[in-house]
Amino acid sequence: MTQSTLRTPQAAADPLFVQRWSPRSYLPEAILEPQLQAIFEAARWSPSCYNEQPWLIRYVQRDQGPHAAAAEVLVPGNRVWAQKAPLIGVIFSRRNFRHNGEPNDWAGFDAGAAGYAMALQASMLGLGTHLMGGFVPELAYQVFDVDESVYQARAAFVIGHPGPAAALPEGYAEKEQPSDRLPLADIAQEVKS
Ligand SMILES: Cc1cc2nc3c(=O)[nH]c(=O)nc-3n(C[C@H](O)[C@H](O)[C@H](O)COP(=O)(O)O)c2cc1C
Repeated sequence: MTQSTLRTPQAAADPLFVQRWSPRSYLPEAILEPQLQAIFEAARWSPSCYNEQPWLIRYVQRDQGPHAAAAEVLVPGNRVWAQKAPLIGVIFSRRNFRHNGEPNDWAGFDAGAAGYAMALQASMLGLGTHLMGGFVPELAYQVFDVDESVYQARAAFVIGHPGPAAALPEGYAEKEQPSDRLPLADIAQEVKS
């Protein structure tokens, strides 16, 4: 995928981490099933509190499920570009631990790890993903047929083959590039005595 000059590593992390980004322009072509399964398999091996694996990934593909309804789950500012992607999904997390029924305060953290694993695996396959907090949870439970009393909708996402920036609606093309990050020293700090 595109490498921007905005992305200059400050230490020797694997390029995989630096090269992943979240495109908004997608080609309509479907994702090959083995690639899709590899993406979800990556999520499956994510770490989680008590190894509870609280994530639930529900998705629809164009011509195979309620794709238009899934697009309606997104807020308009996301729907306008995300509806072109061949796959739209939502990551849910279980509200309570399976092992004792108590509320799981770490489920959102774990679901985030699973979402990032998906994004990294997709990037390795040359595919784009874009996670979105801009969606309507009530519609997500309905369209993706998930029990709201058991699961919390955490983030919507799309997966697809990245397309040209010029194909985006007005106002989005200029944002279609990998973004920069805060300085390393701002986010990881050793505490010394
Ligand atoms: C939890 C979460 C919610 C996000 N919500 C949105 C969103 O609603 N719309 C959007 O365009 N991007 C959304 N993003 C994408 C971020 O804006 C993006 O990851 C960030 O700007 C860093 O860019 P990069 O992923 O290209 O490296 C979201 C990302 C995350 C992890």
